[in-house]
Amino acid sequence: MQPSVSIRKASIRDFERIVEIENACFKKNLAYNRRQLRYLLTKAHSSIFIETDNITIRGFIIILYRKRTKIAGIETVDVDPLFRKQGIAKQLLKAAEQDIRKKGMKKIRLEVSTTNQAALKLYESMGFKKTGFLKNYYLYNHEDSRDAIRMIMIL
Ligand SMILES: CC(C)(COP(=O)(O)OP(=O)(O)OC[C@H]1O[C@@H](n2cnc3c(N)ncnc32)[C@H](O)[C@@H]1OP(=O)(O)O)[C@@H](O)C(=O)NCCC(=O)NCCS
Repeated sequence: MQPSVSIRKASIRDFERIVEIENACFKKNLAYNRRQLRYLLTKAHSSIFIETDNITIRGFIIILYRKRTKIAGIETVDVDPLFRKQGIAKQLLKAAEQDIRKKGMKKIRLEVSTTNQAALKLYESMGFKKTGFLKNYYLYNHEDSRDAIRMIMIL
């Protein structure tokens, strides 16, 4: 029997797997640490969605909502390297967009490293537009750059 694929809100039971995927996706300096991920999962004004084949959690997306603004942020979308190029990030972004629309937001904003070609392509394919260049945005190098591109989707 084929396992069925689904996307759902993350719960604290998913925490260890979220940490594992974050560390598989980003080097130590660049990855959110356990404390930050726990905060994003349990306390922050945020939503985390996970994609699962009902055996393994294969990816997740973090949305941050801020008070008094109609702009939602995508903090990150992470897919386990073992399960990439199967459309999982696209599905996670679609689920995030749905959640963001339901909450009455008007815009989605994100920042992505200038060297992260996969993510830049992904966001463009989902309808995000490049709206800014942020020199030295990151504290540490992603590949060999600290610069970011800001991208926006108007809802
Ligand atoms: C970026 C990332 C989330 C993509 O996940 P994924 O599940 O493999 O992506 P999808 O299969 O949904 O691909 C969707 C689109 O993204 C683009 N894309 C994804 N991986 C790509 C790659 N390696 N090179 C170029 N384009 C890529 C393509 O446009 C693709 O559409 P297509 O398959 O029709 O060509 C994944 O590579 C990842 O987890 N990277 C590390 C974490 C990260 O950098 N996150 C972004 C932080 S801002």
